[in-house]
Amino acid sequence: MLGSRIAGMGHFVPERVVTNDDMKQWMDTSDEWIHQRTGIRERRWVEGDVGASELGEHAARQALAEAGMEAKDLDLILFATLSPDLNFPGSSCLLQARLGVPGIATLDIRNQCTGFLYGLSTADAFIRSGMMKNVLVVGGEVHSSGLDLSTRGRDVTVLFGDGAGAAVLTATDGERRIIDHELHADGRYAEILMVEAPASRSNPRLTQEMIDRGAHFPKMDGKHVFKHAVERIPEVARSILARNNLTLDDVALLVPHQANMRINEMVVRQLGFPPEKVVHNIQKYGNTTAASIPIALHEAAQEGRIKPGEIVLMVAFGAGLTWGATLVRW
Ligand code: ACO
Repeated sequence: MLGSRIAGMGHFVPERVVTNDDMKQWMDTSDEWIHQRTGIRERRWVEGDVGASELGEHAARQALAEAGMEAKDLDLILFATLSPDLNFPGSSCLLQARLGVPGIATLDIRNQCTGFLYGLSTADAFIRSGMMKNVLVVGGEVHSSGLDLSTRGRDVTVLFGDGAGAAVLTATDGERRIIDHELHADGRYAEILMVEAPASRSNPRLTQEMIDRGAHFPKMDGKHVFKHAVERIPEVARSILARNNLTLDDVALLVPHQANMRINEMVVRQLGFPPEKVVHNIQKYGNTTAASIPIALHEAAQEGRIKPGEIVLMVAFGAGLTWGATLVRW
């Protein structure tokens, strides 16, 4: 039966390191508060006018090289982001232009921290259907240009970093392939983590009053998000394994979205999963949203933490609310 495998991956983070201590020049915070609550020590932020598609291009070129392919071999470019270069058109179009392959289909995925897994599942479905052979999936974010650097925004601003990760999926009839996906969303909780403006539901979309109260910055009910995450992630992890007749013992590596080290530690405790088989890089990069899973997965692969044929479980949770899991035989 036709399926898809990850033929190559890439990731990219900007050079500029912003430590927790650096945050103190803008807001009332401390390394102790940030590290204790989140596990984050530093993150990467772009300098100047750099959009998500530019970071995505670096990751995509690496993924294509690792796959031994050229951009012209692609049938589709998927770009998962909550921080698109422009309101429209989508960053997938801009990335396509950067890769110099006019004519190839493009699609933006707007599912926040679960965006990369929604992207993988979409790519996998196109490939399984026989409609496409090679699909590029990119998760890329530039958060830093959209954060409130004052003390008002400190609960959110300290969490986020910029970066991109990419995977090239290609058709296969072999054993090493994406096994399954499980995707969920609950739009009733959209407002517990959102950017309110500019938006089509407000006319005008952006006013001075909105800017003055910071409606153009992300707002989060952190405790609420935390509570949902620690319930939903173990649930979806158990569910995807059960429906594939697998158990946690079969999983060689767990790659969770990197939103908060405490969330991931709690999830791993609840699952009773060996902590040494879990990938963490939030301490270096913060939460890079749609980019966090592909960056973590690619780093783990580069470090030799996954052997061919082993099972990798990815789990994500984020704004929307959205959550999901993907199982891969590496
Ligand atoms: N530095 C210092 N103090 C701070 C900071 C900061 N950066 N931010 C908040 N505080 C203060 C608050 O003002 C509050 O002070 P008060 O008690 O005087 O009112 C105190 O610290 C405690 O604040 P809480 O918000 O209650 O802190 P909490 O323990 O809930 O931790 C955190 C906050 C880290 C944000 C946590 O709630 C969290 O990680 N939530 C989940 C985040 C997440 O997973 N997001 C989803 C993914 S993102 C996406 O999908 C886009």
